[in-house]
Amino acid sequence: MFTPNKNYLRLQGSYLFSTIGKKVREYKEANPDKRVISLGIGDVTLPLCPAVIKALNKATEEMAHAGSFRGYAPDLGYEFLRSAIVANDYKARGCDIEIDEVFVSDGAKSDSGNISDIFGDNNKIAVCDPVYPVYVDSNVMGGRTGEYNPEKEGFDGVVYMPCTAETGFLPVIPDEALDIIYLCFPNNPTGGTITKDELQKWVDFAIEKKALIIYDAAYEAYITEENIPHSIYECEGAKKCAIELRSFSKNAGFTGTRLGFTVVPKTLTYDGVSLNQLWARRHGTKFNGAPYIIQRAGEAVYSEEGKKETKEQVQYYLDNAKIISDGLAKAGYTVFGGKNAPYIWLKTPDNMKSWEFFDYLLEEKNIVGTPGVGFGPHGEGYFRLTAFGTKENTETAVKRITGQ
Ligand SMILES: Cc1ncc(COP(=O)(O)O)c(C=O)c1O
Repeated sequence: MFTPNKNYLRLQGSYLFSTIGKKVREYKEANPDKRVISLGIGDVTLPLCPAVIKALNKATEEMAHAGSFRGYAPDLGYEFLRSAIVANDYKARGCDIEIDEVFVSDGAKSDSGNISDIFGDNNKIAVCDPVYPVYVDSNVMGGRTGEYNPEKEGFDGVVYMPCTAETGFLPVIPDEALDIIYLCFPNNPTGGTITKDELQKWVDFAIEKKALIIYDAAYEAYITEENIPHSIYECEGAKKCAIELRSFSKNAGFTGTRLGFTVVPKTLTYDGVSLNQLWARRHGTKFNGAPYIIQRAGEAVYSEEGKKETKEQVQYYLDNAKIISDGLAKAGYTVFGGKNAPYIWLKTPDNMKSWEFFDYLLEEKNIVGTPGVGFGPHGEGYFRLTAFGTKENTETAVKRITGQ
């Protein structure tokens, strides 16, 4: 008899953004005359930049001719893209990453979930709280988290590392035994960052404990300050303990186009097993490569025009972040993030619960944001707004929220 994967039954509620989407749909159906502005889900609004469109069009035309048509892509990614990644994202920052350590994919969400395929069953995971939900949920599916504990508001087998205003939105290195540490900087949802010195402490800790760090750097393009590392491989020894996830979604607007990559260094071995080889095998077996035209579009992000145009897009969103931060702070809100990240993390007013503030903003101000508690219990009392809207909507939203 067939038996389903019952680990899925331990998942709590529906995926956060589905819940938000449902609430917003219902509100709009009941109030068709209201103009709702969404600063909720972290989706971009600017169109793909001209350099990317040019490359997409050119590659599409190539597909129309027998001589230049491409079928299955190499499952680890085309060399033209992998070498552009290595040169621009790593060598240019002094990180010694080689082409065969880069695995091209359809995005960081898939990779952050799929990477757990190469974890043994008994690893204990540690996550920040609040956290991007995919890390925990994918480990729940894999049976690596134990039961959900309603009192703890989390899974018994997971180490949650509170990231609050008191800790500067940084996790504190836990005393408990753990095997896999998920870190994401610049952070979703808090917009917090980590200095190179602080990140080095995690690398040293992971090496000492023979633990693995999964470092999600999906928002590195938003770093504006000098002492913030763009890659974990800027830290000494990180090639011995860290996998890095990257995305083209937030730096170049590929949320609907889909492209990302994961770096798995060849020096990453545990118990004599190479994680680079395991991930190559996993990729080769379960993934048939990101589309040729999209990889050409990704390559264009690293061209001179592409770099200039995508930088302007990131700056546009950072300007929105400043509009939100400054506007809300002026109106008396306590706000965090927004400086090296497209997210503003604010304290809800009058000790409102996160979902209470969500309902208030939706119903009274027609603004959609994301309740902090949706990212974990330590997100309670906080709220996330994104800078990915249009400038006009961002300004209108701030005026509506502050009444100024
Ligand atoms: C921390 C983090 N990692 C990964 C992703 C997903 O990126 P992608 O669009 O490449 O799947 C997101 C998307 O919001 C994110 O916030």
